[in-house]
Amino acid sequence: MPLIDPILLQACLGELAGRFVVDALAVCDSTSSELLRRAAAPSGMVVVADRQTAGRGRRGRSWLSAPENSLTFSLLWRFAGSPARLGGLSLAVGVALVRALESLGGQGIGLKWPNDVLLAAADGDAKLAGILVELASSRDRCQAVIGIGLNLAPPVGQLAQPAAGLDQAGLPGIDRHTLLAAILGQLAAILDHFAQSGFAAVRADWQCRHLWQDRPVQLVDAAAAPLTGLCRGVDDDGALLLETASGLQRIVSGDLSLRPAVQMVFE
Ligand code: BTN
Repeated sequence: MPLIDPILLQACLGELAGRFVVDALAVCDSTSSELLRRAAAPSGMVVVADRQTAGRGRRGRSWLSAPENSLTFSLLWRFAGSPARLGGLSLAVGVALVRALESLGGQGIGLKWPNDVLLAAADGDAKLAGILVELASSRDRCQAVIGIGLNLAPPVGQLAQPAAGLDQAGLPGIDRHTLLAAILGQLAAILDHFAQSGFAAVRADWQCRHLWQDRPVQLVDAAAAPLTGLCRGVDDDGALLLETASGLQRIVSGDLSLRPAVQMVFE
């Protein structure tokens, strides 16, 4: 029995079932790579796989997940206009993910720029889910392949950062169909809203869930020297606002890590 049964999933989606076409695979290299290869796939196409042999993460990293402990899927969504209108899309996806998990009873879940879903804990935040958004465009429209990897239980093995599972966030033994249907429902709502009004319409919601607001952080980007500062949230395009010794900087790419809580004084 595969981990996801499309018939059961359609039943969980209820009235939203008509908005999604679901292909459940036992194994593939990466659900996002698989969807990117399907040039004619309709908007709302979902590829969900029990097992990925070459799961991909942000910035060329790999994404490791064990079938029994994870939910890995990708969703294709088409938008009118140019990709320039899609700033902040991956942050909006993070908001949809947190809303879905909260709607099922998940607790202590929040966001870190640009698009990590974390479980907040006194001894440090740990990653619950990762989001990889890949854009492509033609003349007057564009498409996003939105890949999501969610830990049902913490993965084992060598990881770049501490990881957590939904079992630690108040959702032990969650049914995958219920979970995927809740996420797709929230994604449909937020992507519709985003298509109309852009990230600005979702920004306040992102800020409410931002776990590292006003905390001292270090930004690492291969293309530039590391920057330290206070994390001041995001702007209407989803760019990070970092208060540094030389003023407020607007950052569009990079990885954030927390700095020890030293006092930072900027004049
Ligand atoms: C990150 O680096 O945090 C993003 C990880 C995204 C992983 C998901 S799993 C489903 C989809 N398929 C992939 O190969 N990657 C994304």
